[in-house]
Parts: sequence; C-alpha cells; structure tokens
Amino acid sequence: MTEKAPNHVKGEFKAAVTFNSELKSGYWRMGLEFAGPGAEAFAGTSPGQFAEFDLSTTGLPVEEKIPVHLRDAVKRDVLLRRPFSFSRVTVDSGKAVVELLYCVLGPGTVRMTTLRRGNVINVIGPLGNGFSVPAGKTLAILVAGGMGAPPLQHMAQFLTERFATTDVIAFAGARSKEDLPYSTQLDKISQELGFSLREFANYGIKSSIATDDGSVGFTGTVTDCLSQWLGQESPPADGTIIYSCGPEPMLAAVAKIAAEKNIDCQVSMERLMACGIGLCQSCAVECKCDSDSEYKLCCKDGPVFDAREVNF
Ligand SMILES: Cc1cc2nc3c(=O)[nH]c(=O)nc-3n(C[C@H](O)[C@H](O)[C@H](O)COP(=O)(O)OP(=O)(O)OC[C@H]3O[C@@H](n4cnc5c(N)ncnc54)[C@H](O)[C@@H]3O)c2cc1C
Ligand code: FES
Repeated sequence: MTEKAPNHVKGEFKAAVTFNSELKSGYWRMGLEFAGPGAEAFAGTSPGQFAEFDLSTTGLPVEEKIPVHLRDAVKRDVLLRRPFSFSRVTVDSGKAVVELLYCVLGPGTVRMTTLRRGNVINVIGPLGNGFSVPAGKTLAILVAGGMGAPPLQHMAQFLTERFATTDVIAFAGARSKEDLPYSTQLDKISQELGFSLREFANYGIKSSIATDDGSVGFTGTVTDCLSQWLGQESPPADGTIIYSCGPEPMLAAVAKIAAEKNIDCQVSMERLMACGIGLCQSCAVECKCDSDSEYKLCCKDGPVFDAREVNF
C-alpha cells in the first residue's frame, strides 16, 4: 500500500504571517498560520503540494531594498497568483503553520519580502499531488538542486515523523556556496559525522553538499555526488526510493541514474503556472504513453511524477 498524507481538502483561505526573515542574501523564510477550515486543509498537506499566493495588493519595498537588477522588472503588477511549496508544516492548538523558503526573483517575491508578522494574505491550496511512500521502502534518498530544497525539507519532516523505520539521507546541490538555500552549516564535528546541513540534521538526517565550483562540499553536480554514493553503498534497489526536486536537467539526470539502478524515483516538476487548478493549460508536462507521448498538467496531475513517466 502506498502511503501519503490525506490531501483531498482544498480551498481559498486567509493566512496570517507569523515571521518573514532573510535567511541569506536573496533567500527568505516565511511562516503562515491558518485557523479554522484553512487549518484543517493545510494540516494534511503532503510534501510536494503547493499553494497559489495572491500578492496583487502587497506593496513594493523602498527602492534601496530592491536588488538593482530587479528595480525595473518589479514595477509590473502581480495580477497572477504565484505558486510556492512548503518546507515544514506543523499543527498546534488547532492552527496549522506552514513554512516557506523562497528566492527573490521578480515582482511577486520582491513584494513578499515586505510582509510582516500579523499581515494577512489570501492563499489557494493545498494544490496538486505530493510525494508518496510505497510500501516496503527502507531507504529514502532526498536529492535537492538549488531551490528544489523546500519540498524535500518537508519530506524529511514527513518521513521522520511517520516512517521511523525508513532510513533517510539527503543530497543538496547548487552552482556555488551562495546559491545553497540553507542556513549556516553545522560545526566541524557534526560535518565529519555527515550532518552537514542544519535543515536535515534537525531530523537526524545526514546530508552531502555538492557545488559545481567546489566552494563547499563535493566538487561537481549533485547527481555526480549521488552516483558516487550509490556506487559505494549499493543499497538494495527494491527497498530504496529517490525523491527529487530542482532544475529539469538535474531531474532528468536523477531519473536516468534511478532507471539504471532500477530504483523507484519521484520527481517534483516546475512549470510557469497561471491558474494552478487545471484551467489554463499553461503547465503541460510531456509524459510517456505506450510508445507515444501525452501531456499532463503539472498543477493537477503533478507536480510530483514517477520519474519513469516523464519524457525529459
Ligand atoms: C509547484 C511550484 C512550487 C514552487 N515552490 C517554490 C518555493 O518553495 N520557493 C520558491 O522560491 N519558488 C518556488 N516556486 C517558483 C515560484 O513560483 C517563482 O519563483 C515565483 O512565482 C516567481 O515570482 P516573481 O513574480 O517573483 O518572479 P517572475 O517575474 O514571475 O519570475 C522570475 C523569473 O523566474 C522564472 N520563473 C518563475 N516561475 C517559474 C517556474 N515555475 N518555473 C520556471 N521558471 C520560473 C520566470 O520565467 C522569470 O524568469 C515554485 C513553483 C512551482 C510551479
Ligand atoms: S496552471 Fe493552469 S492548468 Fe496548470
């Protein structure tokens, strides 16, 4: 039996900002609290699911706080909602708190940085499917590329809370140290023990870092790092599953490695999403269908797909 959190309740809800702070240059963390029916809906969010945020009435920061290269672009109105997944979900006293990790890229995310504790925003969700855990898996491997980190942090929480007997290990990659969307690394002893990133160490999960330029961790891509580890450790194929999120070429490489090793693999895909609910058809993902191909919707059929299904 495949297990995942119940995720059938969704809707349009108001959420109160509990915190919104800069993790490191260009990367922010935010907490949102849902009460009442919103809490009911978001308490059961599966890792990989997402929500659409209405930022149309959120103002811009003062000019000096806007990165110079974005100052012109951010003046555009933010008419369409913006999709974000979650890095952690907790429930306390009947309220659900979801945490986000976001990268400042354009008009919507620049506006998000102005949100303060107590501000209220309108959110539609939780949307899409999420990662699932097939029966019999004793090892879960999380592979995050750049901003693919949030749903895998959420997956780390989900697996440790619900699948105590499943071992979990994480691989996190980025072009360079500055592009790793994580908080400070842990001390030398923790690192020598393999607990490199606090976000995973908090759940007792060991992690490896890979950077293309070698500024920290393994020098090379996160998929090279994963390949090397699989070659050394040879985990049993049928008891192992890989969960991955990140840039599409990286997902394609992870899918290829998983197929070669005959390991199950689920990938969380990204598309530009205008509606997030299956209406506008802007988020097509080409999937395999017998000897042909078919298009599925990332927002409704995904964003999580079995890696064997996607035509990369
Ligand atoms: C299911 C899903 C989950 C996501 N989760 C997160 C998350 O947890 N944290 C996070 O920081 N971001 C996440 N994103 C991406 C996030 O939605 C965009 O970064 C955001 O909408 C950018 O809005 P903006 O107005 O600031 O910039 P925009 O001007 O809208 O975009 C800035 C640049 O990023 C590109 N871009 C925007 N969205 C996407 C996309 N979906 N795929 C590829 N390129 C894109 C644009 O083409 C443009 O070049 C997620 C996207 C999806 C589809
Ligand atoms: S975003 Fe509109 S159909 Fe997927």
